[in-house]
Amino acid sequence: MNDNGFALPEALRGRHFLTLLDYSPEEIHALLDAAARFKALKRAGEPHRYLTGKNIVLLFEKTSTRTRCAFEVAGMDLGMGVTYLDPGSSQMGKKESIADTARVLGRMYDGIEYRGFGQERVEELARYAGVPVWNGLTDQFHPTQMLADLLTVEEKLGRLKGVRFTYMGDARNNMGNSLMVACAKMGLHFTACAPTELFPAPELVEKARAFAAESGGSVTLTEDVEAGTRDADVLYTDVWVSMGEPEAVWEKRIALLRPYQINAAAMANAAPGAIFMHCLPSFHDTKTETGAKIAEKYGITEMEVTDEVFESERSVVFDEAENRMHTIKAVLYATLR
Ligand code: CP
Ligand code: NVA
Repeated sequence: MNDNGFALPEALRGRHFLTLLDYSPEEIHALLDAAARFKALKRAGEPHRYLTGKNIVLLFEKTSTRTRCAFEVAGMDLGMGVTYLDPGSSQMGKKESIADTARVLGRMYDGIEYRGFGQERVEELARYAGVPVWNGLTDQFHPTQMLADLLTVEEKLGRLKGVRFTYMGDARNNMGNSLMVACAKMGLHFTACAPTELFPAPELVEKARAFAAESGGSVTLTEDVEAGTRDADVLYTDVWVSMGEPEAVWEKRIALLRPYQINAAAMANAAPGAIFMHCLPSFHDTKTETGAKIAEKYGITEMEVTDEVFESERSVVFDEAENRMHTIKAVLYATLR
């Protein structure tokens, strides 16, 4: 079948994209290769409206900048119609169940993106939709972000296998969970550097270790910042409090995670040429409502990363953000073509 020069596995056609737990390393590599190809097409200004006539819907129960815009631009570049439903403007949850919403949207659209709360919600949507469902972030996983992160590591460091990748902060949130799984599958040496009470769940660690045993990677959990950052090729962090968590957790989280801030000392302890990554948005100054409020209440003006590191040459966060679009385009094309 005409694949516009892409060599994508047949098994991706019509598939949901809910967590990388369901994807093989070969399938992930194929999506990364497709994303790199889409990126080159975009850079060259070559049109790639391969999915003209199709329509997708983006269902958001939490706010977003990158994920929403990446899906919208990717969908439009592929020639599709795109509908955005914001948190609050659909009937889902309040007047209509997930199952009913899925069956309605599945009759009209060729695919559904969902961002929201529990992973079970996106799974239920997928069970009833009859069309591919893509997870745009749940409390447990953020799989489209993983593709952007892997592509960025590959671009910046020239490889995935053997890369020493340290994640600092809340290691049991959607980013901590997803990065552990993604790195383990792709042969990176993953370290979660966090207080023990924010370590990922033991069952997930066990699964990740089994993937690492296959790929030649490894999974390490440590509380020790010096050991966790030593010789790392990538230092990665995320916000200390995630969407959907109550404001009341800030105080405890700040106390727990302050030692795990990525700052000049952490970067100096990492490998020469190490890069800094963050899924964004980030609290690296007080130029946001939350940043200003936290500064006033707790007297800290930078949280998970210092402004110095965020703005430094080591920081690849905006390349990473751009890659959301190219990688999401690869997922849309692979599943809908
Ligand atoms: N990284 C990420 O998912 O960003 P948004 O919340 O802006 O979509
Ligand atoms: N852990 C963050 C990720 C945002 C992209 C959150 O869920 O808010």
